Amino acid sequence: MKTTQQQHHPPSSFPKHFFNAQIHLHKIISNFLIFAFGVALGASLNIYLKDFPFQLYSTQNKYSHLSTNNPPSSSPPPQSLNIPTNQTKAKTSAAGPAPPIGLKEYTKSPNILHEMDDDELLWRASLVPRRRGLPFKRTPKVAFMFLTRGRLALAPLWEMFFKGHEGLYSIYVHANPGFNDTMPENSVFYGRRVPSKNVTWGEPNMVKAERRLLANALLDFSNQRFVLLSESCIPLFNFNVVYSYLMDSNQTFVEAYDLPGPVGRERYRHKMRPQITLDQWRKGSQWFEVDREIATEVVSDEKYFPVFTKYCTPSCYSDEHYLPTYVSIKFWKKNSNRTLTWVDWSKGGPHPSKFMRTDVTIDFLKKLRHGSKCEYNGKRTNICYLFARKFLPNSLDRLLRFAPKIMKFN
Ligand SMILES: *[C@@H]1O[C@H](CO)[C@@H](O)[C@H](O)[C@H]1NC(C)=O
Ligand SMILES: *[C@@H]1O[C@H](CO)[C@@H](O)[C@H](O)[C@H]1NC(C)=O
Ligand SMILES: *[C@@H]1O[C@H](CO)[C@@H](O)[C@H](O)[C@H]1NC(C)=O
Ligand SMILES: *[C@@H]1O[C@H](CO)[C@@H](O)[C@H](O)[C@H]1NC(C)=O
Ligand SMILES: *[C@@H]1O[C@H](CO)[C@@H](O)[C@H](O)[C@H]1NC(C)=O
Repeated sequence: MKTTQQQHHPPSSFPKHFFNAQIHLHKIISNFLIFAFGVALGASLNIYLKDFPFQLYSTQNKYSHLSTNNPPSSSPPPQSLNIPTNQTKAKTSAAGPAPPIGLKEYTKSPNILHEMDDDELLWRASLVPRRRGLPFKRTPKVAFMFLTRGRLALAPLWEMFFKGHEGLYSIYVHANPGFNDTMPENSVFYGRRVPSKNVTWGEPNMVKAERRLLANALLDFSNQRFVLLSESCIPLFNFNVVYSYLMDSNQTFVEAYDLPGPVGRERYRHKMRPQITLDQWRKGSQWFEVDREIATEVVSDEKYFPVFTKYCTPSCYSDEHYLPTYVSIKFWKKNSNRTLTWVDWSKGGPHPSKFMRTDVTIDFLKKLRHGSKCEYNGKRTNICYLFARKFLPNSLDRLLRFAPKIMKFN
């Protein structure tokens, strides 16, 4: 402004050409200043604009997950509810802020592999939602838990049983860790072995294995019914019958009875008082069926199970007494006190009868299926057993032959 004023009021003593030169210089300076300002403005705008579209893009990207419900591709692998490991922590922090949390990773069937020890696993499995309603869709599944020493010789029969019912069952196999898995990739048993420990029949570590199986199965929210089976068990009915029998029942199936004598009450140890008294002591088959509530309570039990591990040994057989006693103390109202797994003790002795190839006849299977009377949901029925044992590996070919016709497998 000053320069233009000077233009209008030049000192009259200066020669004209000098005056003109001065005006010219002023013009150059002012033009330069405008140019410099322009450059600076342009440069800073450029930086700002460069930043802006990037922020806009990443913001859009971040919130698009909310509307589509798709987990971001950088989310950690679906290791279920696992407490994040170092690896996953490193991964998310490298990719920026952690993705927003959702329900999906908590409710879908988790990976069967985990890195938890028993204490960690039982703790995780004991977490229960307190709200009753489900804010997501869930198809209830039956967890078939196989407690085996080694090979599942009757696997082909079970394959036939499960075929076509994917999504309605989960399989868990607890075999001794030394056993080398040889299940083919197209088998329903492929990759279904849970982290395991050695098991000695009759010892408390057998019940530990049962709790380990229950805990693994509880990690899948879809599992609502839990069946324990052995490698010598067979199904007596087809999948649809077994599934609805279990899902529709208002009772659980843990065999429990009070038996006087050396293999019943005399196995009770007086040191178990006061937590467990003699009149609470029960015996039963270890091949059980429970619902999700009992399964959760069994893995959470810190009162009765420690008493068993401490005092129910030796020749006490926790596997025949812990669950019958525990369920009879806490859940006697909804337990049927009967087992769903048929077995033959009629020959006497400490072990039930084993059935081989020639024992397996159509009449024999019919007898197992409908040869008893019992109660189901308050009504009399002749379907009392869904499974049976003990079947030797050499009975397989006959079972495979009769199953489609008698058991209506298809
Ligand atoms: C986690 O990382 C830290 C340092 O990188 C290491 O000291 C620690 O042992 C790691 N923990 C596990 C569970 O891997
Ligand atoms: C398990 O079996 C596979 C194939 O038969 C063999 O390569 C592997 O060494 C075995 N592992 C053990 C621990 O025996
Ligand atoms: C498990 O049992 C097998 C056979 O009885 C034995 O060879 C192995 O050493 C045991 N493993 C452990 C960890 O006790
Ligand atoms: C199961 O046994 C308990 C005693 O342990 C008894 O109170 C209950 O009524 C029995 N339930 C049925 C269905 O028989
Ligand atoms: C199961 O249902 C039957 C028939 O409705 C009823 O009589 C019985 O009391 C129920 N049992 C339990 C444990 O709810």
